[in-house]
Order: sequence, then C-alpha cells, then structure tokens
Amino acid sequence: MRSLSTGAVEDPYSARFHLCRSGRHPDGAQPVEGLRMSQGFAHTPVMVDDVVSLFGPVPAGLVVDATVGGGGHAAALLRAHPHLEILGIDRDVEAVAAARATLAPFGDRARVVHAPFDRLIELVAEALASRDEPASGVLFDLGVSSPQLDRAERGFSYRADAPLDMRMDRSQPLTAASVVNSWPEDELVELLAANGEGRFARRIVKAIIEARPLLTTMQLVEVVRAAIPAPARRTGGHPAKRVFQALRLAVNDELALLGPALDQALSLLAPGGRCVVLAYHSGEDRIVKDRFRSAATGGCSCPPGLPCVCGARPSVRLVFRGARRPSPAEVSANPRAESARLRAVERVTPRASTNGEPRSATLVGTMPSPTVPRAVSRAVSAAAIAALAAQEAAATEGEAAAKAKALRGKAA
Ligand SMILES: C[S@@+](CC[C@H](N)C(=O)[O-])C[C@H]1O[C@@H](n2cnc3c(N)ncnc32)[C@H](O)[C@@H]1O
Repeated sequence: MRSLSTGAVEDPYSARFHLCRSGRHPDGAQPVEGLRMSQGFAHTPVMVDDVVSLFGPVPAGLVVDATVGGGGHAAALLRAHPHLEILGIDRDVEAVAAARATLAPFGDRARVVHAPFDRLIELVAEALASRDEPASGVLFDLGVSSPQLDRAERGFSYRADAPLDMRMDRSQPLTAASVVNSWPEDELVELLAANGEGRFARRIVKAIIEARPLLTTMQLVEVVRAAIPAPARRTGGHPAKRVFQALRLAVNDELALLGPALDQALSLLAPGGRCVVLAYHSGEDRIVKDRFRSAATGGCSCPPGLPCVCGARPSVRLVFRGARRPSPAEVSANPRAESARLRAVERVTPRASTNGEPRSATLVGTMPSPTVPRAVSRAVSAAAIAALAAQEAAATEGEAAAKAKALRGKAA
C-alpha cells in the first residue's frame, strides 16, 4: 500500500544520531552521555526528559520501544525506572545491532527484535507469553535516524551521491529507484503534491519520466532542480528536500503503518499504562492526534458541553492537552529536534458496557473479570491474546479489522 501525506512538509530529521568520528573504544562500543553505543552510532534522544518523566507513573512491567533506533530513549528509561523492562523493536538491522549494544549493560531487562512495529501485538504476546500481563507502555519515536540519513549508501540523502534506495528494512524489495522508475505519472504527482510540492509536482514528475531510468540520488536531485523555476528554487530550502521526503515515506509506507500500530499499542496497555509518541511530520502528527482523540472520547458524537448519551466508552485519557515541543535550548543543541511534537495518552480502566460486562481489553490485562476467570485468562495462548487485543482495536477503529482477522486465523 502506498502512503500519502496530506500535510505541510517539515524537516525530515528526527532523533539526532551522529556518525562517531572519534577513536575506537577498546571493546568496540563508544561511551556516549553515560551510555554505551555500538561502534558507529551516537545519539541524543529527542525530548528525553519528557519521555522519561511520562513513563515514571506507569505500572511495573514491560514498555515497548517500537522504534528503538540506537536505544537512547530505551537506555534512559531503564536507567531512570527500575520497575520497567524494555522490548525494543526496529525494522533496520543496523539499528537493532546498535540498540543491542547500547542496552547490553541492562541484561535481561532489555531485549531487541528486528521487526516492523505493525506486528506489535504479536511481538508483545510472544514477549509476555509466560507472564500473561498487559504492557505498561509503548513509545514511538517516529521518522528516520541520523545514520539512515547520514550514511550515504542508504540513499536517503539529497546531499550525497548513492543508489536511490531509502529502505529502512533493506530486505524489502521496494526501493526509491523502483518508485521513481516505475510508478505511473499520476501516482507520482499525487505523492509529491501530498508532500508539499503542489505547484510543481507535475513538472517535476514529467521531468523524472523523461529522464528515466534514474539510478542515483544526485541524478534525481539534478532533474528536480532543473524542473523547478529558478525564483522558486531560492526559497524553501533544498529544492529536492520535499521530493526525497515524499519518496522516503512511500518506500517505507510510513504513514499507512502508523494508525494500525497505534491502535495495537492502545489495546495492549494496562490501566495506567501510557502510549507516548514523538512525531516529526505534520502527516504523522495528525494521525497520532486523531487516534488519541478518538480513543479519549470513545468516538463520542454528543454536542460538546452536554452529557454523553451516545454510549461512547473512552479507553484512554490525554495526559496533557495538545502537543509538547522541544525547548529552544534543546533545538539549539540539536537542530534535528526542531519539528518534534510529543503526545501522550494513558489507558483508563475500561468502562463497563450497558450489560455490565467489561470490554475485551480486560482479557488482555490482569484485572479480575466477572466474565473471564483468571485461570482461563492465564491459559490463553500468545496468539489468542494477540487476537483479542486486535479485536478490541478493531472495535474502536475499523482499520484494524483486517489485522484482527489475520491474527484470529493464526490463533485458530
Ligand atoms: C528516530 S529513530 C529512533 C531513535 C530512538 N528513539 C533512540 O533513542 O535511539 C526511528 C527509528 O524507527 C525505525 N522505524 C521507523 N518505522 C518503523 C516501523 N514501521 N517499524 C519498526 N521500526 C521503524 C527506524 O528504522 C529508526 O531506527
């Protein structure tokens, strides 16, 4: 499926990784801000103090870092909160290796798996199978890492020549070259227009099609530059910035995966558990905002200010209104944090439905349930837990329905 943004384009960077340029550490790891980072990764996690304090009040147990990257946020959480363990997920094998090295000092409080975060329910069910507990939290720090941007051979950067790649998971077949060289004109125009190239989208796409095949980042940069009229080139940053961002979002299907993953995350949380998201792109942030609002209102359709009579059942509360932004001091120390927006919700005890029964989420948690004896709950297999949680996500958000069906099939 192809993902399209609907919002203004922002800086593509997120968490700030730097390639290490200093000498080798004797054991192959680099000490960075008190953390051990794997050779080649160094990281300043964005809004780390906010993230750490937001997970302070969650119940003891497992926090999923769904975008573990180099493990910076995960390490800060483990250091600050002895009651937490981490399951780190990333679809980039280089990030997985870096996070494993960073988190090694925390022993069995941390494990890291190579997977996409839209398999969240399944991965958590595997991790928790023997304990039959819900998750205490889920963190998403969206976007790309600096090594992905800064390592020329990854093909994300419009500043370095490399094959047009842009895959976070290099085992997937779709690359930026496939998109550029094989997508039909109208689909490419739609992709670029949705990412802020409005006026010039068709001109750029026509130039791309004429120049096919385009194999390298610099070939694409030159075609885009030539297609944009000179006066427009002097405004709005690098002329190829939006095109590269649009391609990156499409290659990695970033926006399409986010909503279902958020649904899964919310359905996994224990009462008091929190989901915290850092977004760096207005399209991403809109998805987060909409999902959180819908879960916090239970989809209530009653007029504002009047008591709810539509039977909506909120499953979360907003921990704070709106989005938090990084401080000016953080942005000046780490310009890649500039576009960050932080949102957080907390799972509330599921309300009883009209017939007095709790929602299926109770099955996923450890709360005693009048309809489901604990012994039965304990015996539920990992796959069945996954199916139940997905079922709840599907009940509140239609988009998860397909996922739930697939998981139920697995459980059978
Ligand atoms: C901004 S970095 C995270 C940095 C991390 N918070 C840290 O402190 O080191 C984002 C990471 O998310 C990963 N990522 C993006 N989309 C993903 C997805 N759908 N599934 C799994 N990982 C994903 C990227 O590969 C990248 O490593």
